[in-house]
Order: sequence, then structure tokens, then C-alpha cells
Amino acid sequence: MSGQDADWCDVGPAEELARLPLQEAVLNGRTRIALSFRNGAFSAVSGVCNHVGGPLGQGRLDGDYIVCPWHGWKFHHATGQGEPGYEEDCVPRHEVKVANGRVLVNAAAASRRGKKPHPPHPLEKIVRRGEPGGTPLDAPLRVVGISTTNMDVANPRYSTSDALLDSALASAGERGAATRLIRLAELKFRACEGYYSKAARACTWPCSITQMDPTDQMDGVYEAFTQWADVFLIATPIRWGQASSLYYRMVERMNCIQNQETIADRVLLRDKIVGLIVTGGQDNIQAVVGQMMTFFGELGCQFPQFPFIAHSRGWSHEDMENNVRIVRQSAELHEGAAALAQRCLVTSRALLDARVAKDRVSRGGRKAHRLGGAESAE
Ligand code: FES
Repeated sequence: MSGQDADWCDVGPAEELARLPLQEAVLNGRTRIALSFRNGAFSAVSGVCNHVGGPLGQGRLDGDYIVCPWHGWKFHHATGQGEPGYEEDCVPRHEVKVANGRVLVNAAAASRRGKKPHPPHPLEKIVRRGEPGGTPLDAPLRVVGISTTNMDVANPRYSTSDALLDSALASAGERGAATRLIRLAELKFRACEGYYSKAARACTWPCSITQMDPTDQMDGVYEAFTQWADVFLIATPIRWGQASSLYYRMVERMNCIQNQETIADRVLLRDKIVGLIVTGGQDNIQAVVGQMMTFFGELGCQFPQFPFIAHSRGWSHEDMENNVRIVRQSAELHEGAAALAQRCLVTSRALLDARVAKDRVSRGGRKAHRLGGAESAE
């Protein structure tokens, strides 16, 4: 058998393989291909997507194009070329023939993989304080306030969590910190689409949605968390015993930050301090704060001593108008918010001076093991 003949691999009976328009096959135990059957003929291209390696053979056919199951990039099922305008972004093509009722695919690719150069996303590179090109260590601290309350931004009303957040930010500003307020209610951003559920590596940094949808406004939140701010003040009302739905919408989109710890041993947040403001007409403060601290702790954030302030009048108090009045008039609560901001600043400065997180953090995250069950092999 010539070397060329040896490259032909028997994939299976043609009659059976023709039942599916697209399927995955592995040649010689190592070359993954996407085998398609369209218009009465078989075709094969590489089964590895150009983007971040998604399994093209597990995708679907949309006309002549294979749609990657991870983030939807498209490649021609027979030529491997990208969509019109992106032809250069192509995956290798493989020759296919049918002989004696068997489908044979040549393991040697008939064309090369081509990647159209894409400029790196602005969020890709994170420059930390004190590093070349980053903010000097001794520059004023930066505090971002995240308002998660949901309201019609065209008709604002008094929000107890927002009011305390305003007091905290004002106090930080008086102490010389730079401040920024992000109201999630003013942003349009998509819910996390659960790429992680398809495969851990399908969840990317920057977030795949952010990379593919220029109208999605989570980018400003990501930039504040990973790059700009030293201190995050997160304010939420309690709704049905939980933080607000907008808080969770944001948090789910931050899975990509935590996921970098799991899949790449890369800790995106370092030297970051979190303070929490939680207000509820009724109850469940400890559970809400517990979840929030767990989440930000898993992202690698630190907390000041006494990391939250909260207000609730208890289960029986449905008279919300009185709740609003009490928060509005309570000097103590607003002083408490200011004091929380001060504690965050003091902790932030101490952390930066000590450079606690200057070294590489290895195996961050609660799982502390490598992806793929490596712990069982060790
Ligand atoms: S579109 Fe294929 S891996 Fe992202």
C-alpha cells in the first residue's frame, strides 16, 4: 500500500452514515473531522473550529455551512471556507470517497487551515496597578459602585440601596478616591447563554457574547472589574429573599472571569476589595450577603473588616413606604455606608502596599484542581 493509500480511513457504511446530515468522526484515533451528507454526497472538513476549537462535527448544517455548536462560527461543509467575506478564515478540507459501500476519508488534509488575523479584544490584556503601563501604585484609589436595583430609568424613584450606595461613593470621593457609578438598569446586556454548559473551554475570556455582539454593554462592567477599579461597592435590594435579578444577570455573565481560574489557571481579579450594601423591606440579609461574598470570594476578591452594611425591618413589615422613609431619614445608615467605603479604601491601600497578590496565584477557586479530572490521575 502506498503512503497515500495508507491515509484513507474507513469511517463506516455509507448507507448508515447518510442518515445524518452532519456528524463527527475520528481518523486514526487523532484527527477529528466533520462529515456531512448533503445533496446526495459526502464531504469532510476538519472537526476543530478556528475560534477556540469547538467540535464542528457536533454542530448543525445551515444550508451549505456548518454552524459551530459553541459560538456559531460558520464554515462551508465541503470547502472549509468561512462565510462570504470571511473565506480566509477556513478549516482544512479532507477528500472523501465511497468504495464498496464504505465511506473513506483521507486523513491528510487537502487544504490548509487559515486564520484571518483578528485584533485582540480591548479586554484581553489586563494591566495591573504598579505594572509597566498600568496605574502607578500610589495614584488615587478607584471605586466603582454597582447599582443592581431595577427601575424605569426614565422615571427614577427613591431606591434605598441606591441611596446608600450614593452616600458610600460620596464618602470615597471626599477621601480623594476616583469614583464611578454603573447602574445596571441603564445597560442593555444579554443574559449568559451558558456556553460553559457545552464545554468548559467554550466559555472564553473576554466573554464570547462581548466579543461577538458590539451592542452588548457588559464590556463597561468587565472593564471596571478587571481593570479600572480597586474597590467594588455592590448594592442590591432583596427581592423574594434574594439579591435582585439584575445582580444575578451580571453575576452569570461573570462566569467567564471565574472560569479562567478553572480552565487556564488565570486569575483576572487581584488586589480587589468588595463592600456590599443590602437593603430589604423584609428579610434574608445573611443569606443574600453569604451568596454575594461567596461569589466575589471565588473570583479572588478580598473584603474589608465588616464587609457589608444592610437594613431590613423584618418579615412582617409590608409597609414599604415606611421602609423608604426610614432609610431616607436615617443618618446612621448613611454614616454606615460612608464608613463601609472608608474601610474598603483602607483595606485596598493596605493590600496594594503589601502587594499580597503580586505573585502568581496558582489553582485559585474552590475546586483547586485541574480541568478534566486530573486529580484522579495524580
Ligand atoms: S465558534 Fe467555534 S469555538 Fe467558538
